[in-house]
Amino acid sequence: MTTPLPRVAVLASGRGSNLAALLAARDRGELPVDFVLVGSDKAAAGALRMAEAANIPTLALDPRSYPDRRAFDLDLFARIEASGAELLVLAGFMRILDGQALTPWVGRMINIHPSLLPKYRGLHTHRRALEAGDSEHGASVHFVTAELDGGPVIAQARIAIQPGDDEQQLAQRLLPLEHQLLPAVLALLANRRLRWDGQGPRLDDQPLLAPFMLGAHGLQTAE
Ligand code: GRF
Repeated sequence: MTTPLPRVAVLASGRGSNLAALLAARDRGELPVDFVLVGSDKAAAGALRMAEAANIPTLALDPRSYPDRRAFDLDLFARIEASGAELLVLAGFMRILDGQALTPWVGRMINIHPSLLPKYRGLHTHRRALEAGDSEHGASVHFVTAELDGGPVIAQARIAIQPGDDEQQLAQRLLPLEHQLLPAVLALLANRRLRWDGQGPRLDDQPLLAPFMLGAHGLQTAE
């Protein structure tokens, strides 16, 4: 008897290049999951078209049809739960989630954020790294908690900031690394090597003391 694959829902607000990377990793046999839903707060999101093309059920909910953030989030999470998803990936979902509504998903939901967290939570991360004169920048995948971009970091990818870099160049150099980072972390969850113990991440049953780093050969534990 074969064990069923972990069921995964993805939320995305935009073009969906991270979703594309997840689907490609699955198709290469590197990500043993079953994508059961792709949802968005934007009916025009490229991510929804991509999911349709891949025969994954989609969901578009318009926040303007709800009285407030919590009402939207509660409906969104109820529908995700109804899809049978066990894990939830935020892949460019550009909304702040209500802390109470997301609580049942803590430990089962990850987000990719384009900065070396804890630096630069929120928006305009590339600009802020440049303005601060940082020598490096990066992306983080973290467990989502009620604190915006503040949950425990699981893995990061780093790039050097070169003299003369602008926001667009940074985003362009970082994106291919995001596309490796997110599937690699989801694979750890899918393989049940990584889990949440109520306090933080555990890898192979040991507390994850430092985030993984993305290297030439995938995720590497910090020295
Ligand atoms: C990525 O840079 C991601 O880190 C951020 O939003 C962007 C989404 O891009 N949270 P895409 O829609 O996956 O192409």
